[in-house]
Amino acid sequence: MDLSITVNGIKFPNPFLLGSGPPGTNARVLAKAYDAGWGGAVAKTVSLESSKVVNVVPRYGKLRSRENNEVIGFQNIELISDRPIEVWLEEFRQVKKEYPNHILIASIMEEYTKERWQELTKMVQDTGVDAFELNFSCPHGMTERKMGSEMGEHPDLTEEVTGWVKEVSTIPVWAKMTPNITNIREPSLAAVRGGADGISAINTILSVIGVNLDTLRPMPTVEGYTVPGGYSAQAVKPIALRMVSQLGLGLPKEVSISGIGGIEQSRDAIEFMLLGASTVQICTGVMLQGVKMVDELQDGLAKFMTDKGFTSVQEIVGKSLPYFSTHMDLVKMMKEAKRHKAGEASRDNEWAQKDITEKTAELTSN
Ligand SMILES: Cc1cc2nc3c(=O)[nH]c(=O)nc-3n(C[C@H](O)[C@H](O)[C@H](O)COP(=O)(O)O)c2cc1C
Repeated sequence: MDLSITVNGIKFPNPFLLGSGPPGTNARVLAKAYDAGWGGAVAKTVSLESSKVVNVVPRYGKLRSRENNEVIGFQNIELISDRPIEVWLEEFRQVKKEYPNHILIASIMEEYTKERWQELTKMVQDTGVDAFELNFSCPHGMTERKMGSEMGEHPDLTEEVTGWVKEVSTIPVWAKMTPNITNIREPSLAAVRGGADGISAINTILSVIGVNLDTLRPMPTVEGYTVPGGYSAQAVKPIALRMVSQLGLGLPKEVSISGIGGIEQSRDAIEFMLLGASTVQICTGVMLQGVKMVDELQDGLAKFMTDKGFTSVQEIVGKSLPYFSTHMDLVKMMKEAKRHKAGEASRDNEWAQKDITEKTAELTSN
């Protein structure tokens, strides 16, 4: 089945992209992902001066299910790429030469000066990459240099910096949003005012993954200390879905959305698409399952389309958005439908009549 989709004039063989991070951290891993069947990739974020990027070990932490030890949440305190820009430029060229039909998106980040952003944009663009993703969203480490989410948390900066990039770029520009704000629409619309062609959402959610009860040290612990990091994997999916739905409902139609956050299976990806994403990105899922996970993503999407009678991926995008409403409307609709539980029939007093767990189950939809 044809899983291709055209977004901002770029034809993606399928909507599945590696999210920026370890899965796209050099030309060799990018090639492996394309060979495995990924439609595209957002490479690890690059900047002009890699010598300023120094990572720590350990830098990851996991939250496991109490029942079966499955990883449900993942935290990182990793920075952007620590590889020199000259090496990256050569690798971008090489990857585009070897995989002309696969989509390569360069993620870029710089300090708050117009010259630096425009210099980086121009040199990366010259390599032949298909689009840019502006990293306004890394929530830790880089913020100490006023980079990353320091920009995404301030809509005026988001607009200004997007404008700088758009002044010199001839390829589509996506702005990647931080979820560590009150209203995702504000910085997103600021990026659109600056000229962004698409919005990628979300980057990681600020978190502290846990505290070691033997040592009393918060984790991940580096020489006895830590910093809050970025939370990802399946636990963040509902938050990411909410933010993508707000963008689906609130952005101008021509602005594309790339959905990110906790996608591990085809059904997760389809949910993001139903809420307005025309591509999806996966980072932690690939770190935990490997690039082969794209087989299930493709098979699951094709099966869903056959079962539901969709003939193109584009038809799925935003299909569930009309089903958001207001609380008042929900109550009104229940009353009109004369549902047993509407209004009077489910008052808070009833909680005393049954066991609390039973009552919770009764009010749960899935
Ligand atoms: C170890 C790690 C490193 C990451 N590095 C970057 C990065 O360099 N640039 C960026 O834009 N996002 C980075 N991210 C964020 C991811 O691209 C993604 O937005 C986030 O993890 C949520 O998606 P996921 O649940 O599929 O991982 C990183 C995430 C992880 C887990």
